[in-house]
Amino acid sequence: MNLRLPAFPKKKKLSSFAVLTSGGDAPGMNAAVRAVVRYGIANGCEVHGIIKGYSGLIEGLFQRMDASSVANILQRGGTILKTDRCEEFYKKSVRREAAEILRRRGIQGLVVIGGDGSFTGASLLEAETGFPTIGVPGTIDNDIAGTDDTIGFDTAVNTAIDAIDRIRDTASSHDRIFLVEVMGRSSGFIALEVGIGGGAETIIVPERKESLASICSTIDRGIRRGKTSSIIVVAEGEKAGLSAQLAGDLEKRGYKSRVCILGHTQRGGSPTAHDRMLASALGASAAAFLMGGKSNAMVGVQRGVVTLVPFKSVIGVKKGIPPELLTLAQVLAT
Ligand code: F6P
Repeated sequence: MNLRLPAFPKKKKLSSFAVLTSGGDAPGMNAAVRAVVRYGIANGCEVHGIIKGYSGLIEGLFQRMDASSVANILQRGGTILKTDRCEEFYKKSVRREAAEILRRRGIQGLVVIGGDGSFTGASLLEAETGFPTIGVPGTIDNDIAGTDDTIGFDTAVNTAIDAIDRIRDTASSHDRIFLVEVMGRSSGFIALEVGIGGGAETIIVPERKESLASICSTIDRGIRRGKTSSIIVVAEGEKAGLSAQLAGDLEKRGYKSRVCILGHTQRGGSPTAHDRMLASALGASAAAFLMGGKSNAMVGVQRGVVTLVPFKSVIGVKKGIPPELLTLAQVLAT
């Protein structure tokens, strides 16, 4: 991985800040927590860990961190700080209370490691109370605008490709079509990379409609070339059950098919070297920018350079999958 760090602000404006993880966990979140904590401490800051995301913030679940509280976690999946999807934080009154809790403890800034929803909470907290926040993109979905990459995406893709390699063995032994469902919610980034890297015959993503007739014609083309099995990678999409429905449709047309939903297996496991490096660089950069007085922004990676991106260019902005990669996937599958 060829990452470069930007110049960080020289003057230290904060002496104490907190860090939390929020939303779905992602492999590499621990490496990011470690980097935030160690960079902060090395530069003379007090660092506090908040357990269980925004819920823990409201409940006052704080833990003073030192360099050894993040020892031996770099290689571990999940998050030692635990995480949550906190409905309560949608309320303005709760966010105001959260800022007071932080200030009462002498904490002057907050690093939020998570996805779009977590950044929305951070940005509103800052807009309404003036409490400085900075985001680190941590989600397996890679669906965050303003950054080419998110922590956990590479690991999730590798986990899914490993599963496809195994499924291919059984698919070919039984002459079956396998629909392998991957995560990603309304975004097809995981499906696209898993499909290309796993050599899938077809990739179904929420960003592009694919008719049953075209799926069948791809399968038939393969059969004419002597293929006896196929892998179809299906992005889960917003509504559950798409792969099962497709399998049913294929069965009705006489194709033997099976469904394998990879689900949360993609969220666990030890982060890849790529994700460890990304998380270390982004975590340290978030701490550096926050300490230097920057906030209301996310640290992302753009063309290999760690970049500070204002929350307003990130939150709610749809990051489209590259259409040329979808075309490439089709070409390579024929
Ligand atoms: O955003 C990460 C993600 O894993 C999505 O890909 C998936 O749709 C969702 O979280 C699942 O959330 P939960 O763990 O709450 O079931």
